Parts: sequence; C-alpha cells; structure tokens
Amino acid sequence: MAIATETKTPRLVTALPGPKAKTIVERDAKFMSPSFTRDYPLVAKNGRGAMVEDVDGNLFLDFAAGIAVCSTGHCHPKVVEAIQKQSAELIHMSGTDFYYESLPYLAERLGKTVLGAEEKKVFFCNSGTEAVEGAIKLARYATKRDKMIAFYGCFHGRTMGSLSLTASKSTQRKNFGALLGGVEHIPYPYAYRCALGHGPETCGEEILETLENQIFKRLFDPSEVAGIIIEPIQGEGGYVPAPKFFLQELQRICRQHGIMLICDEVQSGMGRTGKMWAHEYAGIEPDILCSAKGIASGMPLGAIIARASVMNWKPGAHGTTFGGNPVCLAAAIATLDLLEGGLIANAKKMGDYIFAKTADWTKKFKIVGDVRGRGLMIGIEIVRDQRTKERGADLRNAIVDMAFHKGLLILGAGENSLRLSPPLLIDEEQADFAMRTLEECIREAEKKI
Ligand SMILES: Cc1ncc(COP(=O)(O)O)c(C=O)c1O
Repeated sequence: MAIATETKTPRLVTALPGPKAKTIVERDAKFMSPSFTRDYPLVAKNGRGAMVEDVDGNLFLDFAAGIAVCSTGHCHPKVVEAIQKQSAELIHMSGTDFYYESLPYLAERLGKTVLGAEEKKVFFCNSGTEAVEGAIKLARYATKRDKMIAFYGCFHGRTMGSLSLTASKSTQRKNFGALLGGVEHIPYPYAYRCALGHGPETCGEEILETLENQIFKRLFDPSEVAGIIIEPIQGEGGYVPAPKFFLQELQRICRQHGIMLICDEVQSGMGRTGKMWAHEYAGIEPDILCSAKGIASGMPLGAIIARASVMNWKPGAHGTTFGGNPVCLAAAIATLDLLEGGLIANAKKMGDYIFAKTADWTKKFKIVGDVRGRGLMIGIEIVRDQRTKERGADLRNAIVDMAFHKGLLILGAGENSLRLSPPLLIDEEQADFAMRTLEECIREAEKKI
C-alpha cells in the first residue's frame, strides 16, 4: 500500500531490523555480490515523497534519496504517470539506430540549462560512470590528445576508464590492475583541511601553481592534455565545494591550452545545490558536462552535454543500446518539469533553512569540525578534536547508525563526513525533524570521546 502523502515524519513499529528485513538481509548475504557497502539494514518496500517504508512497516525520513538520485522524491505521481504512459506506448527502440521525439526534445532542454553562448549537443547513456567514460572519449576525440588530469578525493565511477580518474578510496582500485595510462591526480581545494590555512574562498592557489609549474613543466606538456575533470562540489569525497576562483582559474588554464574542462555534475547537478548545476555558482562554462543520478528521479539515465563544436564526433564513434531509453527519458522530462517548476527553488530555500540551523554547530558540538555545501548538498565533517581536526570516522559511522535507529536515513561521505542529500521537496517540518535527530545523535556520539 502506498504511503499516505500527509505522512511527513518517521514511525518505527519494530526493533531494527524487523523480522522480515532480517530474513532478506540474510538471503542477500548469501546470494548477492559482497562488494556493496551497506551501512545499516534498511530493506525498502515503498517510497513516497521523502518517506520510505521498510518491509516490516517502519517508516523512515529519507535524507539520502538513493544516493542523491530521487530528486523529486520517491515515486512522484507525475514521474510515475510519465513512466506508466510511456511504457504502454514504447519501451525501447535504441537511439543509436532509430529516432524518437523525446531524444531531441530533452537534449534541447538540457542543453539550454548549461551556461555559454554556444549551442550544446547531448549524448544519453545509462549511468554516471558511462557519462564519464563518454566524456573521456569525447575529450580525447575532440582534442586528439590523450592525457587527463583529475583530483584527489574525486569519484567519477567504477568502470575502468572512470575508475582511472576516481581517486576516492584505494579499496575502489585495489586488485584491479593497471588502469588507463596518462592520468595524473592533483589535490582538490579542500578548504577545511587546506595545508596553507586558506579559507573556503581562497584555498587552492598552490594547487593551480603545481598544475602550471610542475605538472605542465615536468610531466605532461599542456598540448598533450585532453581534459581536466572536476566535481564542482566533491560528492563521495565528503561534500566539499571548490572555491569559485579555483573553478574560474581552472577554466582560464583550460582555455589557454585548448584543454577540455569537464564538470562531473553526476551528484551535484539537477538542482540539488539550488541551481541547476553547481558550476553556475562560479559562472564558468564547462566544455563537457556529465550528468546522471537526479536526472530521471531513479530511472537509469546519464547524459553528456557538450558544446556543439566539441561533440562533433562522426557516426559510429560512440553509441549505446539502452542509453536514452524512452521510458527513462519520459521520467527525465517529468523530472525536469518538476525541478524547473519549483523544486530547484525549494532546494535553495530548504538548504538556506538548514544552513541557518547548523550555523552554530561547530560551536555547539565539539565533534563537528565543518558544515559545508550548497542547497541540499550538505556535508558535516565529524572530528575527534576540533583543534587537530583528527578524523572521527568511527563517530561518523555511529551517528549514521543511530540516525537509522531513530528513523532518519543518511549516508556518510569521505572518510569522516555525514552527507545530507534529501529529495528536493522536503519541507520545514522534515528539515526540523532531521536536524533535531542529528543533534541527538551527535550529542550521543560526543559521549564516546
Ligand atoms: C560525481 C560522480 N560521478 C560519477 C558517479 C558514478 O555514477 P554511477 O554510480 O551512476 O555510475 C558518481 C556516483 O556516485 C558520482 O558521485
């Protein structure tokens, strides 16, 4: 049975995990790939808005949104209707070989959301990692160069090309052998941990210096570099925003050397930060943009959006069987309507509301080192000691687990940060509940040090 729309906050009716959840978790351990990283035993059955019901009838408030995917909430009626209607009409055709109307329709609309005078072209795929794979190929194709530069802490996916750019956790690379050659990583401007003591506005000058005076002079001549890929706000790495000047300078360097500036907005895009794309805060114009996650409210869709003069590869150069499937596109069009129809504005409003509530958390709690992000992409860094910034990974994990037992679903990000990435439709009552619950959990965690 669907969750009533007026239900806004959790209701727990069993100990967690409940009896049915326990059985499913056990079967999962027996039959599923053990490579997944489940933090707690949530076994989901229904979702509606920001609420998720588990198999035992427990209701949770979802501040994880399926890893920042369910932008319009779970099963938004307009998205469900679009999926149902489209699946009764045409489920698959393959845009690689045939035409259908929603492909150019959505491509035109998405292209118009990206800054820059030049028209954009779009390649649809099925996921974030595929968007990044395609972006690597496109950057190489467009520049006829093969080197790539990426950032420590960034996550770009798990297939071999994107994994070569990912530098988030060594477990994600360990035992997989040689990856793509010609990739160098440089530090990400992580203001809270800035080696030179810079703040969120100025951190990263020395990184750009390293790029221009070390990497370009000693490793890769810039004329060999196809692309520099960056998450404007690091996602898996801990919800860390790059300073505005840093992104602007990166753009200048890319332009100067004919390097493709690739923004990976798989997690930070589609309105989550209170603007359609996080890079808009810096006023930059990426040559290539990768999107996925929130783009279709949970249906598998990714997109590479590029300047038309960049995406000029020849027929056969890149393709896909399922990418841009009509049902996923229908969900994406309904999603875009909802985002532009008010949810992006709500993400900004509710983000401001939560940031106002958490403004004093570094004073109020001795284990909160930093609260950062934009809109509803909010990271809270947990430390054992505010002065030394010793990472509190165990405390963060305890908070995530305690929140689950109080009916609030959140995830960690990076080594020791909490990530808040709720659906963009949350209201004040839900934000209040989440913040109250987190305060309780943080207070309890503080007793552990
Ligand atoms: C910034 C970023 N890029 C790429 C990916 C990979 O996306 P997917 O898991 O859909 O392959 C992710 C996933 O978390 C991501 O956060």
